[in-house]
Amino acid sequence: MSKKVSIVFHSVCGNCYLMAREFYDEFKKCGAETQMLRVKDSNYAELAKQFAVAGQYKNEIMDIEEAKAEKLLDSDIIIMGSPTYYGNVSGAMKCFMDSFSPYWMEAAFWGKKLFAYTTAATSEGGADMCLNAINIFGQHMGMIPVPVPSNLLSTQSFPAYGLAHYVGDYSNMRPGRDTVLAIKEMTDRLMNL
Ligand SMILES: Cc1cc2nc3c(=O)[nH]c(=O)nc-3n(C[C@H](O)[C@H](O)[C@H](O)COP(=O)(O)O)c2cc1C
Repeated sequence: MSKKVSIVFHSVCGNCYLMAREFYDEFKKCGAETQMLRVKDSNYAELAKQFAVAGQYKNEIMDIEEAKAEKLLDSDIIIMGSPTYYGNVSGAMKCFMDSFSPYWMEAAFWGKKLFAYTTAATSEGGADMCLNAINIFGQHMGMIPVPVPSNLLSTQSFPAYGLAHYVGDYSNMRPGRDTVLAIKEMTDRLMNL
């Protein structure tokens, strides 16, 4: 039976979106039934004002279906990507997480595999804490957070908690080959778990 995969992301400057797209293409290539969803961002205009690159993928991002917790109920694998904001997930991603409360009591997400990714300005900016915020959310929902295997990715300095890409102070350093290869590798591994 084909695996069902949901990729949920928040993105203002386009980097988490580009990573979501990469995951989407890879899961599709593997034959998974895949959907890509964006979380609602009521603060988008305010955040976007700060970044010259914010307009680049805005229309593409807005064209993507809005995420709702109920749309993930039949997923086997959930990929969650958030920009690191103050060493945590973004407010928009946190609002999305909080919308799961009706499902928490009944453990509706129990046993699903969760994989986290983030983008952050710098490697000192708390990306690992953002990844862990996603993983901890997943554990509260009964999901199984999937780590990055150390033997595979240690040479590229990815944290164990998920994939991180560093975008620089202007958020304009787009995901490069190492990130794309890591996404491909993690997709294969998640498909075979
Ligand atoms: C409100 C806010 C808080 C941020 N906090 C951090 C931070 O704590 N650490 C960091 O490295 N980058 C921080 N950044 C930079 C974001 O991580 C960066 O803009 C984001 O990764 C870009 O992702 P996107 O292109 O998908 O929007 C912050 C940006 C904003 C707007």
